Amino acid sequence: MPMVNRRQSLSTALIFPLLVLLSSVKNGNAGITSAFIRSEWPSVDIPINSEEFAVPKGHNAPQQVHITQGDYDGKAVIISWVTADGPGPSKVQFGKSEKSFDYTAEGTTTNYTFYKYKSGYIHQCLIDGLEYDTKYYYKIVSGESSREFWFQTPPQIDPDASYTFGIIGDLGQTYNSLSTLEHYMHSGGQTVLFVGDLSYADRYQYTDVGIRWDSWGRFVERSAAYQPWIWSAGNHEIEYMPYMGEVLPFKNYLHRYPTPYLASESSSALWYAIRRASAHIIVLSSYSPFVKYTPQWVWLREELKRVDREKTPWLIVLMHFLIYNSNEAHFMEGESMRAVFESCFIHYKVDVIFAGHVHAYERSYRISNVKYNVSSGDRYPVPDKSAPVYITVGDGGNQEGLASRFTHPQPDYSAFREASYGHSTLEIKNRTHAFYHWNRNDDGNKVPTDSFVLHNQYWGSNLRRRKLEKHHLRGVVGLLATD
Ligand SMILES: [Fe+2]
Repeated sequence: MPMVNRRQSLSTALIFPLLVLLSSVKNGNAGITSAFIRSEWPSVDIPINSEEFAVPKGHNAPQQVHITQGDYDGKAVIISWVTADGPGPSKVQFGKSEKSFDYTAEGTTTNYTFYKYKSGYIHQCLIDGLEYDTKYYYKIVSGESSREFWFQTPPQIDPDASYTFGIIGDLGQTYNSLSTLEHYMHSGGQTVLFVGDLSYADRYQYTDVGIRWDSWGRFVERSAAYQPWIWSAGNHEIEYMPYMGEVLPFKNYLHRYPTPYLASESSSALWYAIRRASAHIIVLSSYSPFVKYTPQWVWLREELKRVDREKTPWLIVLMHFLIYNSNEAHFMEGESMRAVFESCFIHYKVDVIFAGHVHAYERSYRISNVKYNVSSGDRYPVPDKSAPVYITVGDGGNQEGLASRFTHPQPDYSAFREASYGHSTLEIKNRTHAFYHWNRNDDGNKVPTDSFVLHNQYWGSNLRRRKLEKHHLRGVVGLLATD
């Protein structure tokens, strides 16, 4: 084990017991419905000509720049951008020091129409063969309008790699959305897990739909050009709009937000998996067929077999609607997926499932309802140590406003719920522990509101933990001997 990891293990051994104690005390209590209410900014979109959506200066300047992971294991990045005036070059120069772009990659260019809206030229460029844990600078080439950015690759796949994910959902483009985004950017998050409903452009009509996809691309560039956003699709990405002849689901989304689905042997950009640091992340599509024998069902079954908890201990699932949620908004919408997938999630000991859709925050205890069927069995969810924690983070701040009506009484499965805007972070420390925080937006301040220690579902078992402690004890003894 490297020296750094030994020291991490030592500090972890000292800090975690206190937090574990605090978290177990909290879990022994009944669920909490937070009474917090604050006046929010109006749930209206930022005006289209505002500086938050400013078009970068210069002829054909690259805009709406965003990156995502480009392969299975984190050694590649897909860079996407739009040029408005012409196709221009589809070229990225990159390198490991500022102003020294030693390598060049060529991308592809496409465009599309949506009703009478004509998109700009959409560029997508894969850069691969990158080194782990390295800062890369990149330049999107467009003559005198070229623009420069940077990103950091993740550490190599390792069970004890520490890494911080941010979780954002249902973001939209209001001043509440801006507040969420700015708070996230100061959170230390290294990659965003985005749980669907991006721009809310489908709240507009005709050519304004495309125009609001463009403004959203410029809005999130401040983060998405510098760190990967892992995309999943929500209902607002479907955009089935027969009144103007647009009936191809996900048309705007799929043209603009590529995913590395082929690397996980998926047949659709809407469901796929990646491995990053110590996490295996599975992205599901709530609005694509998922019942038994469908392509998504077959793919998930195979992907779960590929998960290797010895290499990536943290198994995280993203979807848009949630299986367990006690808000009156969208209540029970995840029930059909629960019937199909819940037993899988338990069998493979998924650590946590993040979702959006409901515009509020909620966290569940570890519970399941797999014994229920339409003929018999227990009709209520029961505590289940093998079940995931379900977390709703659909509180990014879009124009539809908050979902402030929770069901009463609070169900036993619900640990904490509050109707506020915010975002979450998941700080993975090592193979056994991660810190989770939900941060409420509060009048311009980020306020940590709900926190707990997530124990890994694979390495948390008694037998494995005993083996690990023995292993770590040897490491600590070795460290003391060599210091
Ligand atoms: Fe939604």
